[in-house]
Amino acid sequence: MTDRTIQEQIVKYLGDVHAIEQQALPQVRAAPKLAVDPALVDAFERHIGETESQERRVRERLEELGGSPSKVKDAAGTGSAPAFVLFARSQPDTPGKLVAHAYSYEHLELAAYELLSGVADRGNDGDTATLATAIAAEEREMAERLAANWEGAVTASLEAVGRDDLDEQLNKYLGDAHAIEAQALQMLEKAVKVGGDSQLVEAYSEHLEETKAHQGRVEARLEARGAKPNVLKDAAMRLGAINWGAFFAAQPDNPAKLAGFAFAFEHLEIAGYEQLRRVAERAGDEDTVRAADSILLEERAAAESLQGEFDTAVRASLEALGVVA
Ligand SMILES: [Fe+2]
Ligand SMILES: [Fe+2]
Ligand SMILES: [Fe+2]
Repeated sequence: MTDRTIQEQIVKYLGDVHAIEQQALPQVRAAPKLAVDPALVDAFERHIGETESQERRVRERLEELGGSPSKVKDAAGTGSAPAFVLFARSQPDTPGKLVAHAYSYEHLELAAYELLSGVADRGNDGDTATLATAIAAEEREMAERLAANWEGAVTASLEAVGRDDLDEQLNKYLGDAHAIEAQALQMLEKAVKVGGDSQLVEAYSEHLEETKAHQGRVEARLEARGAKPNVLKDAAMRLGAINWGAFFAAQPDNPAKLAGFAFAFEHLEIAGYEQLRRVAERAGDEDTVRAADSILLEERAAAESLQGEFDTAVRASLEALGVVA
């Protein structure tokens, strides 16, 4: 371990956000071709230039501090999450999957910049903190642009698969929700063990209990709807292409990255339930609409409480490395 000073950590966090931007670039460039809905296409198109500028600004700051951009490798800390365009392309409801994963990725970026600004603050590096805060605002805005178009994403997705089997589609959305909750369970079970700080661990374990209940509610809706038993297995297979758990192998002991990653994952769930509730509405399934609404409240609350612990997470990460700020 050599990165023991706060300055070295700032450079390291800058290198991480730079890697995240590099991985974002080919994806935001590819996304407009897959998004179908005009407002979504426009949102992605606007973000191409923003992402290019973010990558450049981060690289310049990195160089000013004597660091150099690292070659992007999957172990850079983002796990396999960035492959969202590839994943979306492989799914029958491409526009919806694309916007869900992009929404999650924007929150991964938002978290990374908020964590960077926390580290920079501790190191009295005002320039880096200002840069991180400015880019964080751009990522938040992009996420909001995506979130303003759930309806369009659902329409485009249903058109892509043929709209006449709404009930079957809704079962698929429920199956997908179940598979994502299963991954959330895996992640949170691990996070509880390596959270790095008692407040963080409390946030993880609280949401672990909620997650079990979410999965149960989704299962109950599938049962009430008389869905075929293979719905769950099929959904798990579809999601299998993305191994979110790979992140832990690469970053087992970094509370800050873990908190940022969990925050991004909550937004993948939020995006899933936002679309699920709209499909349920169109299918006239009020019980599923209500279930999605109440789960959404808890996903949002969990995301907020994680975000509220980012500073704690930064402190825990620095302490784990023996960095005194
Ligand atoms: Fe970005
Ligand atoms: Fe972004
Ligand atoms: Fe969740």
